[in-house]
Amino acid sequence: MANPSNRGQWSGRVGFILAAAGSAIGLGNIWRFPYSAGEGGGGLFVIIYLGFVLVIGVPVMLAELAIGRKTERNPVGAFKALVPSSWWPAVGGLGVLTGFGILAFYSVIAGWTLGYLGMATSGYLSQAVDADASGSIFSTFVANPMFAIALAGAFLLLTITVVRGGISGGIERIAKILMPVLFVLLIVLAVRSISLPNGLDGISYLFTPDWSELSLSVVMGALGQALFSLSLGMGAMITYGSYMPKHENLWKAGTYVALADTTIAILAGLIIFPALFFAGAEPGSGPGLVFVVLPTIFNQMPFGYIVAVAFFALLAIAALTSTISLLEVLVSYFVDERGWTRERASWLIGTGCFLLAVPSALAFGAVPALSGGEDGWIAWDFLTLNNNIWGNYSLSIGAFLICVFAGWKWGVPKLLDALEDGDGRIYPLPARGMFGVLIKVVCPLAVLIVLIFIVVTGSYF
Ligand code: PHE
Repeated sequence: MANPSNRGQWSGRVGFILAAAGSAIGLGNIWRFPYSAGEGGGGLFVIIYLGFVLVIGVPVMLAELAIGRKTERNPVGAFKALVPSSWWPAVGGLGVLTGFGILAFYSVIAGWTLGYLGMATSGYLSQAVDADASGSIFSTFVANPMFAIALAGAFLLLTITVVRGGISGGIERIAKILMPVLFVLLIVLAVRSISLPNGLDGISYLFTPDWSELSLSVVMGALGQALFSLSLGMGAMITYGSYMPKHENLWKAGTYVALADTTIAILAGLIIFPALFFAGAEPGSGPGLVFVVLPTIFNQMPFGYIVAVAFFALLAIAALTSTISLLEVLVSYFVDERGWTRERASWLIGTGCFLLAVPSALAFGAVPALSGGEDGWIAWDFLTLNNNIWGNYSLSIGAFLICVFAGWKWGVPKLLDALEDGDGRIYPLPARGMFGVLIKVVCPLAVLIVLIFIVVTGSYF
């Protein structure tokens, strides 16, 4: 097992916050949030999602960071260090498995961002004058199997290149510079989008809940989205917390990351939905939503060509800082627990993920049988399936187990100690008390109730 003191660290709170925000902010905010909100009826989904971020996301984020920093280990090693010879390390194992599952479909969408960067750069995207034209560019693009596979592979290659270089050298430098630039660009796009004709309809769609749409799948989707977007439930924040210096204040760091992530998701909504109502696209049109809607706004603004290129470049980079964190969880497990070198772990796992990504890459029309086509021999859409299994269910089960561990097994007093480790400040009693209740009772119970309802009613998808 690697000596924890040689594992490297972030250079300080700002470096950590930007790197963790880099993990959290990614396709989950800009691709997954708008399309899930669109499928979940808009405002209703958004309100439930925000509630879950606040009540479940923030406490689980703090618990994961505290476990990581205390143990300075990967998710499996962290549980081993806290409760040796128990079954708890299996929770970390589930996290590692989930990381594989997520990376295998995430890299496909990340590959699309590279493809769109290429189409924006060549000027091809300027043909996306309305939702129809843009939709047909999208469907032609994703139906090309060679493109889809090669782009996912290229994206994984980029990820491997950064992760094999180690923690603060690669990851931190990228996140520090580019996340703020992305933020500014999103604000510019949101302003443009809202000022389009019918733009305000998009805002009211995004924020007005229609309670008659309430269903189990909306609640499950919102829970999965809150966890997915914050990178929670699989130990990514345990891993990132393990690189956090001892003297930093985790309360603040964790809350900032959650705030930044949620702000970016809402900003993405403020870009997509006004533009969608302007262009006349369908909110519930699924994973292609963002790729269909966005090009139509670029064509409605001055310097649209440059904005489009910059946007897809930054989106690819935001996705990269997330794929880095996914691969980092897997690599840190194989390095710490299995004694592999970082180099070997990065290449082998990256290649494994690539092989697993192939069915998802073919799921969007490239091979009709894999695309939900009625008459295919497998009438499944692997991308949606993986997104659901790993991105919603597995993360929820993981988050539930992490809460039970942190609140009951490890215990709130130790958890609070680990959170406050180092900075010497003890938080006021009400905050500590509320956190205790959330992590022990409210979070695990809420997740459990949703999961039980899903099982009992059999409404898995
Ligand atoms: N949070 C990332 C995003 O929003 C995805 C992710 C999920 C990363 C789980 C790590 C762990 O894009």
